[in-house]
Amino acid sequence: MMNGAFSLKSKSSGAWLDAIMNNFDAFLLDHAANERKASSMAMSMVAHYPDKDRLLEAMIDLALEELNHFRQVVKLVRKRGLLLAPDEKDPYVNQLRASIRRGKQHYFLDRLLSAAVIEARGAERFALIADNIDDEELKIFYAALAKSEASHHLLFIELAHHYFDADEVKTRLSDWLTIETKIIEELPVRARLH
Ligand SMILES: [Fe+2]
Ligand SMILES: [Fe+2]
Repeated sequence: MMNGAFSLKSKSSGAWLDAIMNNFDAFLLDHAANERKASSMAMSMVAHYPDKDRLLEAMIDLALEELNHFRQVVKLVRKRGLLLAPDEKDPYVNQLRASIRRGKQHYFLDRLLSAAVIEARGAERFALIADNIDDEELKIFYAALAKSEASHHLLFIELAHHYFDADEVKTRLSDWLTIETKIIEELPVRARLH
């Protein structure tokens, strides 16, 4: 089942989609940064949990896959004659992080589940772009990315189930979906992934 994105509690707004379509170049630069950060995030899991076999293998694969997304987006950036932008803070990710609990186990579960909701939102937004963009190459690219990010969403949920019991995952995932929706709905609309 690849429909992990449907577990989000809200859909992205038409205003967000308009902002992207009206300034696709700005969006693309931010998208590149997001792929780079996704790869780094996976490698930070590797550094933080070197003793967790299953996680380790999955995060190395994920880091490579996200790095490949980064490479592909950078190619699109260069094709449009753009330059990558300096790093910017991502208020969405920072606000999500603020809800990660302390304590070894809680922290671990929250890292997995916050990553799961970030991936689900990415999948939802890339699918929206794929459905609404005219350029055929970009349509195909974003549809493929949407699928990929949906599978990452499921990967984080699976890892959560591997390391925690189902009830705990279910309860906390429901919290995260509520947290995520509140954050995404309150963010100013910009030509950014978030
Ligand atoms: Fe990605
Ligand atoms: Fe991803």
